[in-house]
Amino acid sequence: MTDSADLPSPPRIGEAAPDFEAETTQGMLRLEDFRGSWLVLFSHPADFTPVCATELIAFAGVRGRLRELGCELLGLSVDSIFSHIAWVRSLETKFAVSVDFPLVADTTGTMARRYGMVMPAESPTEPARVVCVIDDRQIVRAYMAYPMTTGRNVHEIVRLVAALRATDAHGVATPAGWKPGEPVLVPPPRTQAMAAERAGLAGASCPDWYFCKKEMP
Ligand code: BEZ
Repeated sequence: MTDSADLPSPPRIGEAAPDFEAETTQGMLRLEDFRGSWLVLFSHPADFTPVCATELIAFAGVRGRLRELGCELLGLSVDSIFSHIAWVRSLETKFAVSVDFPLVADTTGTMARRYGMVMPAESPTEPARVVCVIDDRQIVRAYMAYPMTTGRNVHEIVRLVAALRATDAHGVATPAGWKPGEPVLVPPPRTQAMAAERAGLAGASCPDWYFCKKEMP
């Protein structure tokens, strides 16, 4: 049985994304192929299972919105390429959904382990539901893990990418539940002098020295 101690450490926010070269339903793909785009890399436990089916359908539904944000999608499981092809065809036939993003056939589980997608105490072989958001410079910007029995909310993943892009474009932070178009937060001051300056801005949008909201520029 795989032990956590035998696994590479999972990707960490701010570090370079682990390199890969993988067989996918759209041919061989490398991490480098995504340079210049953002990438949502997500794992799922297995093809032809119900929660995973709902997730693939949901990801297909937000693919256009992710593209508008300059972000590609890449799914992964340890199933074979033939299983992936059959499952995508079945989703098309039975659910009228076109899964037009690639799925990695990580049959050795190497990429899943490298990306911290294997949770041995839950399953030693089937990956958990991990999402790794990688930016256009191939830096890991966010990482989340859900158990096998809980389907993810893909709208939260789109929101996360939009929030990260707003942060990069405007040097702002985003509040809980933020959606594009809503006011953003000024990152907190880190010196006494900056705190004093902010205290001087007291008003509805700056109720205290550490908390200033503003409209998105
Ligand atoms: C599912 O996708 O339904 C599923 C897969 C593995 C374990 C539990 C549920």
